[in-house]
Amino acid sequence: MIPPANASPEAPNHQFRSLSPAVWRASTVLFDTVADFTSRKDRLFDGYTYGVTGTPTTRALEERVAALEGARHCVAVPSGQAALCLIALSLLKSGDHVLIADSAYGPLRTFARDYLQRFGIEHDTFDPSAGADLAALLRPQTQLVFLESPGSITMEMQDIPTIVKLAQAAGVRTVLDNSWASPLGFRGVPAGVDIVVEAASKLLSGHSDLLLGTIATDNRSLYEAFRTTQSVLGQAVSAEDCFLALRGMDTLEVRYAHQCASALAVASALASHEAVAEVLFPPRPGDRSHARWEATFTGGGCVLSFVPHFRSDAAAHPFFSALRLFQIGASWGGVHSLAAFYPQAEQSKRQHCAFNAGIVRLSIGVEPPAKLIADLEQALQAAAAH
Ligand SMILES: Cc1ncc(COP(=O)(O)O)c(C=O)c1O
Repeated sequence: MIPPANASPEAPNHQFRSLSPAVWRASTVLFDTVADFTSRKDRLFDGYTYGVTGTPTTRALEERVAALEGARHCVAVPSGQAALCLIALSLLKSGDHVLIADSAYGPLRTFARDYLQRFGIEHDTFDPSAGADLAALLRPQTQLVFLESPGSITMEMQDIPTIVKLAQAAGVRTVLDNSWASPLGFRGVPAGVDIVVEAASKLLSGHSDLLLGTIATDNRSLYEAFRTTQSVLGQAVSAEDCFLALRGMDTLEVRYAHQCASALAVASALASHEAVAEVLFPPRPGDRSHARWEATFTGGGCVLSFVPHFRSDAAAHPFFSALRLFQIGASWGGVHSLAAFYPQAEQSKRQHCAFNAGIVRLSIGVEPPAKLIADLEQALQAAAAH
């Protein structure tokens, strides 16, 4: 018989200490007695009963993210999109109504249109530069307002403090997708936002190699609702991914500082380039949302967009083919710089989009900014030659 591995959950003795958290894997959680087993629900919502709601590695990540967000509670889920959907499924019922910023992550809007609607939950999208005007869109049935500020492609900013105030007065909960800024750039919970989502696949983990989402809140009953839905829907997160996110968070502050500064340098260089109609990056003085960013945020982001003077969307092809340092791909927040293209047709599908043009989005990594700027300049030149 193969001898059993030592699966002791005890920490190793004093002769072994590591700087890294342990990776605790489990579907089964063991109980000392049958009485412990039959009363296992008493361990909810923070304890351990079954792997689906996490292991000590999951809790280490959740506690660290909660502390960073300035929130009491956090639930880790398999992706940023899973976090957004899980919030909706936890809190909405047939007959309810939700508001979604028109610039919010596309799959959230698809979820509202193709799924929530089927279950009798209505939604409206709103101008992503909204502030006090949002009050006019609230209905007696409105339960949630989904914010994403800035919107991660077109970069419009909502007036979060004003929206928080008017939502609180109406008894409506606010949900902020804070993935662009991360808690280093904006802490939503201390600012009064009820629920803050991070697509931890991006800046928090930082290496473009895993999918993870976090939901932070100060409200105990919301936390319990999210933990319950996570369990019922089987939204488990792997301990390895939690470990990798914890490791990524060790370098978050230096990556963030470097990438934000590089993004600002790239944005400034593009703003004075003749092939660029407009740069979309709120931290840049002169940006259409700069005043709002400056008034509410403490840090920037590593994602920016620009509207090129391409004659048509087809002119994007030589631009992207000429890029050498930037690689083509979705998602962002990792150490490698990425470029993506959102054709004019995608903007025109939105109800409240100020742009009727193709948009290039850049995620700035840790490469030297001068090299990134040179790469963009030569690619813009290649596009102009076509
Ligand atoms: C702003 C924003 N929120 C949420 C998500 C979803 O995150 P994930 O890829 O972890 O599902 C993304 C992904 O691109 C995003 O850009």
